[in-house]
Amino acid sequence: MTITRRDPDATTCLPTGPGREVLIHVDCASHAYPDGSVGIHNMCFAVMKNEIVTLCGPNGSGKSTLIEHLNGLLVPTEGEITIDGRSMNGGGAVDLWRSVGIVFQRSDDQLFAPTVLDDVMFGPLNLGMSTEAAEAAALEALEAVGAADLTTKLPNYLSGGQKRLISIAGILAMKPRIIAMDEPTSDLDPVHSEMIEHLISGLKEKFGISVVIATHDLDLAARIADRVCLVREGSIFAEGSPEEVFYDESLVAEAGLKSPQLVRIYREWCRIHNIAPDARPIRIADLIRAMSQEPS
Ligand SMILES: Nc1ncnc2c1ncn2[C@@H]1O[C@H](COP(=O)(O)OP(=O)(O)O)[C@@H](O)[C@H]1O
Ligand SMILES: [Mg+2]
Repeated sequence: MTITRRDPDATTCLPTGPGREVLIHVDCASHAYPDGSVGIHNMCFAVMKNEIVTLCGPNGSGKSTLIEHLNGLLVPTEGEITIDGRSMNGGGAVDLWRSVGIVFQRSDDQLFAPTVLDDVMFGPLNLGMSTEAAEAAALEALEAVGAADLTTKLPNYLSGGQKRLISIAGILAMKPRIIAMDEPTSDLDPVHSEMIEHLISGLKEKFGISVVIATHDLDLAARIADRVCLVREGSIFAEGSPEEVFYDESLVAEAGLKSPQLVRIYREWCRIHNIAPDARPIRIADLIRAMSQEPS
């Protein structure tokens, strides 16, 4: 993968990653909120089959607005969104929106039923499943997120980390092909953050689900992303592999972000030892390997 830079003036775009199956294509979409605020502008984005893609950008850069366009919660004021090659403009092919599930930043926006099981069953029931099938789907999803023991609990009384797991189960129970998560680890303690991180990797590996993550936590993005998209002022201006993007200091600065800690540590280590930072480690194991192989 090489870094792709977007032409900010282009009026149409091709999904990146030629040869790979494109599930969603956001083609130069713009969205203005009723008060005139620009949520996204000329946004070009694609989700491929079986990948974890992160949207990295500072607060207010348009990550949440883009995510809400992925299942029709918001529709673009300009531009086009296609799912499986079918245009979603004009409200057509509504059933296709169902292939995309969104996990919101605040779990309290998503959980409302009297028990965890009721909550997780709500989506499947809404899709027209029988009570038995919805319950089976819910129990399977709760098991998959490691929350089978919470079935009879009241969502209101769960911890923030447990609520996030239940929110993910609620989406998973609907068996989407794509799950988009808005700041999935924000406000979580380190143990629950790690659980969510493993869960995200498992969604791709075990269930073949593509996952879109909006985050300004670049350390998280570095650990889990197959592809990183940098968002600024409502559009993605560059994208590439985590190694390419996060070792390009000026690109990260252009996004208004700070390099992941691990990248900064490696750079500093290379500077002290007068070594070119060519190994570009992105995970802890790679960092340790790079530091033990280089002469000191
Ligand atoms: N409901 C809304 N009404 C008006 N403006 C909004 C609304 N939601 C977001 N915005 C504006 O849209 C821009 C992008 O916001 P958002 O998508 O929430 O960014 P991010 O998720 O990257 O923090 C910001 O300028 C924000 O103020
Ligand atoms: Mg947001």
